[in-house]
Amino acid sequence: MTLNHSQSKSSILLSVDKLTKIFKTQQGLSSVELTAVDGANFSIRSDQPEIFVLAGESGSGKTTIARMILGLVEPTSGTILYQGRNITKLSQREKKSWYFRQVQPIFQNPFATFSPLKKIETYLFETALNYHIVDKIRLHSYVNEVLNSVGLSLAEIGGRYPNELSGGQAQRVSIARALITNPTLLVADEPVSMVDASLRMSIVNLFRELRDKKGVTILYITHDLATAYYAADRIAVMLAGWIIESGSVEQVLGDPQHPYTQNLKQSIPTPDPDKKWNDLIRLEAIDTDSIQSGGCKYVGRCSRETDLCRTKTPIDFNDNGRHVKCLLPDINVNNEVIN
Ligand SMILES: Nc1ncnc2c1ncn2[C@@H]1O[C@H](COP(=O)(O)OP(=O)(O)OP(=O)(O)O)[C@@H](O)[C@H]1O
Ligand SMILES: [Mg+2]
Repeated sequence: MTLNHSQSKSSILLSVDKLTKIFKTQQGLSSVELTAVDGANFSIRSDQPEIFVLAGESGSGKTTIARMILGLVEPTSGTILYQGRNITKLSQREKKSWYFRQVQPIFQNPFATFSPLKKIETYLFETALNYHIVDKIRLHSYVNEVLNSVGLSLAEIGGRYPNELSGGQAQRVSIARALITNPTLLVADEPVSMVDASLRMSIVNLFRELRDKKGVTILYITHDLATAYYAADRIAVMLAGWIIESGSVEQVLGDPQHPYTQNLKQSIPTPDPDKKWNDLIRLEAIDTDSIQSGGCKYVGRCSRETDLCRTKTPIDFNDNGRHVKCLLPDINVNNEVIN
């Protein structure tokens, strides 16, 4: 992948290069291959904390990318570099002592990550002790400090079990648990989709605050375009395992180039800070069976497709930090081919 002119190698926190995941599943007697992520490229800078949104319709491969970054799924091919190091090559020891402190997950359903039989504060204490973040003397004050950074305190949640918390509080506790190791990167997969509509905005604002006050970078995964528009500094839009357009939110959602992103933009309301957007604007799921191999994956839904689009796979073009995967000549004219 060619880096754009404003990024040198040393200013890259996370770099995903030609990342591919093919799942093999058994259907009856035959084994079927499904390409969940197909040569995805993107990078997140380290010189300035940002919210990098990975958006896309259901089944487009967002969670699979998150799980590969979190070391939960092994890539079929391609690389994931974190601070220049290939994470799939790290030993278990390096993962525990370095990578898993630096990169912490936040999942969709906070209640699923907590046992109903365990007091919620136990998770925070255990994480701090397991990672040797503080000694027992400082444990309470440290955990309380971290809870304060998500708008909670030990006085408020101490002694409580998960079912005694609201969805918003539970998600705040899971964000606090992720912050215990003082991470640089949070990987948040649909973190507000199970939170009450009225509390969603406050969680998204919390991510913005963590970026600004604690310098945490957030990979924010969503299929809700309103949140994406509101929260993102930069965004990558996925379609059936491809990243079809990425760049700053102004570039990609403000002035989309790919016909797919242009189509999506029409469903985004004009940003209005006073507006309480309670409705998620969901990207529709695609019928993956309709995708033909060889051509562009948007064929069949694209209003501008040509004969070439049906047979030739588009390559990524880089135009001033924006990457577009499209064959249309008015989109890729004079741009630099990056793979
Ligand atoms: N472990 C697995 N085995 C087989 N197929 C899988 C597995 N995990 C994901 N898939 C398939 O890979 C594709 C991408 O799934 P993924 O969960 O990454 O999508 P997503 O973009 O996160 O979708 P959603 O918005 O619904 O969460 C889907 O077709 C899914 O069925
Ligand atoms: Mg998902």
